[in-house]
Amino acid sequence: MTGCAITLSYPRRNLIDLSDFSAEEVNALLALAADIKKNPAAYQDACRGRVMATLFYEPSTRTQLSFQTAMLRLGGSVIGFDNPGNSSVSKGECLTDTTTIVSGYSDVLVIRHPKEGAARAASLKSKCSVVNAGDGGHLHPTQTLTDLLTLSQEKGRLTGLTIGLCGDLKNGRTVHSLIRAMSAYPGNRFILISTPYLALPDYSKAVLEASGCAYEEVSSLEEAIPQLDVLYMTRIQKERFESEEAYRQEKDVYILTKEKLEKGKQDLLVLHPLPRVDEISYEVDDDPRAMYFDQAVYGMYVRMALVYTLLLGTPAPLTDTFIKAPAHTCSNPNCITRSEPNLPHYYVMETGSEQCAYCSHAPLR
Ligand code: CP
Repeated sequence: MTGCAITLSYPRRNLIDLSDFSAEEVNALLALAADIKKNPAAYQDACRGRVMATLFYEPSTRTQLSFQTAMLRLGGSVIGFDNPGNSSVSKGECLTDTTTIVSGYSDVLVIRHPKEGAARAASLKSKCSVVNAGDGGHLHPTQTLTDLLTLSQEKGRLTGLTIGLCGDLKNGRTVHSLIRAMSAYPGNRFILISTPYLALPDYSKAVLEASGCAYEEVSSLEEAIPQLDVLYMTRIQKERFESEEAYRQEKDVYILTKEKLEKGKQDLLVLHPLPRVDEISYEVDDDPRAMYFDQAVYGMYVRMALVYTLLLGTPAPLTDTFIKAPAHTCSNPNCITRSEPNLPHYYVMETGSEQCAYCSHAPLR
């Protein structure tokens, strides 16, 4: 890609990708979340007078409500929408105009959007901190913070774990973010359990390769289960398929039943970002290894820790270095640059190759 390097400094800390926080900062967030869980009264007025805006262009239960609850439990207030059809988005307002305006009303902007790279786009002009609450099938860093807190509290460690990721590894943004985070801890190994159609995208495999993290791709959940310390089930993401027919061919391939779980270790942890459709049988819910409902509660505490840190902490200033190119040539049809062509043409060099700075896909050649 021809272009010149450009370094941007942001007025406030953002969380677009978990790599925006150092390993030490992530550990500090987890420790703070654990303290908030133990002593919630000590934090109940911490964010009084501060405002969070939650802009959800896509449906959500856990992420939206746990962020809102996090802010309310810290004494702050919440504005926002969960249906862009009720906002001026319905009149054709572009993403960056909406987020620029709302960032002038708030102290932290939490955004979920179906287009990949939307949170990065919002952060370029935002006057306040931006948190990526899920951008298409790309990343979901606060779900990863949730997963890390759950593992550290319930497993007692983030290292030396064999982690099975099962289901829609292609579209599962929680999987992509978790791989980025857990591949940085020593001794972790991934078993990627999916059909060929739902296999992990190349940009996530490149993260594994670059980190030297051991991984293998398999198709049988039953055969993988006995080796696992953690089984991370995922929903087949119907909304991201090109057709109903393509979805029908993939759905119901992986269903965790009580019978399959019997082959798992006694201290296996079963996680799921939720919502579930039918990939975990309801009978599994009563097994003490089923941790997905507790996981969702941990999500609220870690989001309290994140909001507290963004608004009251003194993290080092954040800068990003991009390659500014003459034109966008992102290969991803769902990249935000396809629907918002006014965005600057930024690329990054990551894991030895060029990637779109918004959605991490390779440029078209
Ligand atoms: N895990 C998760 O992101 O759930 P929601 O889609 O309900 O927010």
